[in-house]
Amino acid sequence: KADDKVAMMEAHELLAKLYHHCLVNTAQGAKALQYLKNRGFDEETIARFQIGYAPNSWDTATSFLMRRNVPLELCMQAGLLGKREFDGKYFDRFRDRIMFPIWDRNGKTIGFGGRILDEGEPKYLNSPETLIFNKGSNLYGMHLARPNMRKKQQAVLFEGYVDTIAAWRAGVTNGVATLGTSLTDDQAKLLKRNVASIVICYDSDQAGIEATFRASSILAKAECNVKIAQMPDGLDPDDYIQKFGAEKFNRDVIGASLTVMAFKIQYFRRGKNLNDEGERMLYIEEVVKEISLLKNAVEKDHYLRQLADEFNLSLEALKQQQFQINKQQK
Ligand code: GTP
Ligand code: MN
Ligand code: MN
Ligand code: MN
Ligand code: MN
Repeated sequence: KADDKVAMMEAHELLAKLYHHCLVNTAQGAKALQYLKNRGFDEETIARFQIGYAPNSWDTATSFLMRRNVPLELCMQAGLLGKREFDGKYFDRFRDRIMFPIWDRNGKTIGFGGRILDEGEPKYLNSPETLIFNKGSNLYGMHLARPNMRKKQQAVLFEGYVDTIAAWRAGVTNGVATLGTSLTDDQAKLLKRNVASIVICYDSDQAGIEATFRASSILAKAECNVKIAQMPDGLDPDDYIQKFGAEKFNRDVIGASLTVMAFKIQYFRRGKNLNDEGERMLYIEEVVKEISLLKNAVEKDHYLRQLADEFNLSLEALKQQQFQINKQQK
């Protein structure tokens, strides 16, 4: 088993080099290279993140690995190759895709994410769970970001490869990504071991907002100090940087990140007309309920006062309402 792991990692290392070579030096990679340049990737970034291209072929990786005497059955188990049912022949699993190597925390390649060049499904074809790739305990970009995280005592959490890389280019070099899956307790612990404070910077769409709520409670459970970055509707960090530039991203998104409570307050406010009494009451109830879940008494007091001030209510009335809510919840 230990030997299998070594061989699988070896296969990943070789393929990462092959894909990178295909992107940077070959005619078949030209279209992919142009795609990346159009999206703002420069040569240095492509080299640092070892981005590659899997040619539109069924046997480029397969015959390459065979020539290097890597056992193909293992490559199939590692999610690099497929195998035809009817004659047992191996074939390339990643074809005509931009390849993002995924590393473990020591920088060893353990998987790939393959992006389609144009529209199409799936947009990303990722390596499956394998002997060497445990999705729930890895974070994309960790080995690159870790020294910067420690220096800044802060980590930034993104959804995807492209966001992590775009943010790096914008100077946010302490970012990692969960790659579309929900944050796990293991990943939260891994972050907690390295930094005191974490900024969640997920996509600003409904799925991203819901994932933000889930991630923030997992991080809170791991006793991390959590902040949440906000972007205008629908944008993701890469979109934002393209549109508004690096400086504004640092200042108005990462630098202006909110506490979880402040983020939730903004969320409850969305689409409500607070001049309407019914909507206002609903809003106040939602916020009071959220405040009652806070553990820290000083924080509780702070947000209750803020709410009281804003709507010209007595603190007594809000505390009374909180008491009612607590009773209902028991
Ligand atoms: P771009 O469209 O290239 O900018 O990518 P993105 O990072 O904005 O993609 P998106 O927000 O849709 O998804 C975030 C992350 O979720 C990606 O980096 C992938 O890891 C993952 N993901 C997205 N689409 C798929 C998919 O179709 N299949 C799988 N398995 N994962 C996906
Ligand atoms: Mn998606
Ligand atoms: Mn998304
Ligand atoms: Mn996105
Ligand atoms: Mn994107």
